[in-house]
Amino acid sequence: MRPLLSASAVVLILGLAGAAIVLAQQDDPRGPVKLAQATSASGLAPVVAAPTFAALPASGAPALRFEPPPDSAIPDNDFGKEVKLGQAIFNGTSPLAAPFVGNSLRCASCHLDAGRLPNSAPLWSAYLTYPAYRSKNKHVNTLAERMQGCFSYSMNGKAPPLGDKVLVALESYAFFLAKGAPVGAELAGGGYPTPPKPALAMDFDRGAKVFESKCALCHGADGQGQASNGAVVFPPLWGPKSFNWGAGMGSIKNAAGFIKANMPLSQGNTLLDQEAWDVAMFMDSHERPQDPRFKGSIADTRKQHHDSPMDMYGQVVNGQLLGHGTAVAAKAVK
Ligand code: HEC
Ligand code: HEC
Repeated sequence: MRPLLSASAVVLILGLAGAAIVLAQQDDPRGPVKLAQATSASGLAPVVAAPTFAALPASGAPALRFEPPPDSAIPDNDFGKEVKLGQAIFNGTSPLAAPFVGNSLRCASCHLDAGRLPNSAPLWSAYLTYPAYRSKNKHVNTLAERMQGCFSYSMNGKAPPLGDKVLVALESYAFFLAKGAPVGAELAGGGYPTPPKPALAMDFDRGAKVFESKCALCHGADGQGQASNGAVVFPPLWGPKSFNWGAGMGSIKNAAGFIKANMPLSQGNTLLDQEAWDVAMFMDSHERPQDPRFKGSIADTRKQHHDSPMDMYGQVVNGQLLGHGTAVAAKAVK
C-alpha cells in the first residue's frame, strides 16, 4: 500500500507548492474533498487549512490527488521549448523519434491524454516514482532508463542512448507536468490500477466475445487497428505493428487495469471486472513481435522473463504455442 503522508506534511507541501492539490479518497462517491486555500494577509505565502482526515470514510487510505498544470503554463523560454518538444514526441513518437520506433504506436497510445490522464500511468506520477528498483532488470532505474524500456518493448524499437535529445525532451515534459507535486509522495491515479480478482478464471472465448462487442469497432475485427491516410487512428492490439512480447501491456494484470479504467475509449469503468480480465487475456494471447531478450528458446525465455500466471508467453492456447513472434511489418503504418 501507498504510505500515508502525515496531515502536517501535506499542509507543508501544499503551502510550499501552492498547486492545485486536493485530498481525495479514490472511489469516494462524494468526490474529492477540496482543501480550503487562502492567501495570508502578507500576500506572500499561501495558507492552507489542515486536511480533515476524520471527515473521510474509515476504509482505504486517503491519497493525494494532483492536477498537472495546463499547457498554457509552459514557459515561453528555452526550457519551455524543450517541454513542447517532449510533448510533441509523446504524441507523435513516430516520426519525431522515428529511429527509436518499430511499430504503429505512440507513447500516448497507452498513456492517454498526452500523459495526463489518471489511471493511465500518467507522466506526472511517473516523474515522482523514479529512481526506483525494478525487478524487470534488477537495479534502480532513473526515469530516463524507465522511458528507454518503453522504447525497447512498448514501441518495439530501440532505446535512445541516455542523454539523447529525445529522452531529455520527454523528461522535461514529465518534469513540467509534475510541477508542484510533492517529491516522494504517491499520487491518486498514478500507474495503472489493478481490478479486483475476477470471480471466474480468465477465459479466452469469453474474452473474444467482449472483444467483438466492445473493441472491434475501433481496433478492427482482426485487432490490427485502423489507419486513415497513413496516420494511425486506432492502434493495433497485437500482430507485427503492436507492442512486443517484452512490453508491460503483455502482462494481463497491467492490460486488465488499463482496459478497465480506460477502454472502450472515453467509456472507462463500464466493463465488468470479469470482462476486463477476459478481454485482456484474449488480447495477450495473440502473437506479436518477439521479446528482444529472446535467445533462441521460447521455454527458456518464458522461464527467465515470463514466469507468471499473468503472462501468456510460452503458453499453449487453442493448440498453439505462443511466443514465436511475428516478423516485423515491412512498413509499419506510422
Ligand atoms: C503499449 C503500451 C505502451 C506504450 C506505447 C508506451 N508505454 Fe509506457 N508503460 C506502459 C505500461 C504497461 C507501463 C507500466 C509497466 C509496468 O508497471 O511494468 C508503462 C510505464 C511507463 C513509465 C513508468 C510509469 C510509472 O508510473 O511507473 C513511463 C515513464 C513510461 N511508460 C513512458 C513511456 C514513453 C516515454 C513512451 C513512448 C516512448 C511509452 N511509455 C510508451 C505501456 C506503454
Ligand atoms: C471508440 C474507439 C475505441 C474502442 C471502442 C476501444 N478502443 Fe482501445 N483505444 C482507442 C484509441 C483511440 C486508443 C489510443 C489512444 C491515443 O492514441 O490517444 C486506444 C488504445 C488502446 C490500447 C493501448 C494501445 C495498443 O494498441 O495496445 C489498448 C490495449 C486498447 N485500446 C484496448 C482496447 C480494448 C480491449 C477495447 C475493448 C474493451 C478497446 N480498446 C475499445 C480507441 C478505442
